[in-house]
Amino acid sequence: IKITFIDAEGTARTVEAEEGSTVMETAIRNGIPGIEAECGGACSCATCHVYVAEEWEAATGQPQPMEEDMLDFAYDVRPNSRLSCQIRVRPELDGLVVHTPTRQG
Ligand code: FES
Repeated sequence: IKITFIDAEGTARTVEAEEGSTVMETAIRNGIPGIEAECGGACSCATCHVYVAEEWEAATGQPQPMEEDMLDFAYDVRPNSRLSCQIRVRPELDGLVVHTPTRQG
């Protein structure tokens, strides 16, 4: 399952993700810049904020209420903002593209 992270400068990095892990864990494991994930995936830091590419918004779905609340603490939140620790990797997300923000928090 491939996931592409595009940073604020437009540099794309495509990495292999494991089914059942999260997009955040995939980023950390692969040293993707721009994802801090201070809370380690507990949905309580908002420093794993990403923007889901338009064509992937339907597949990744909407944030749960707890994630929605936490997103209020993220920087430059947009309609396609998600916390990447709350996006579970599954086969349907093969090819997923997310953008990392200019900064976290
Ligand atoms: Fe902290 Fe996602 S890693 S909210």
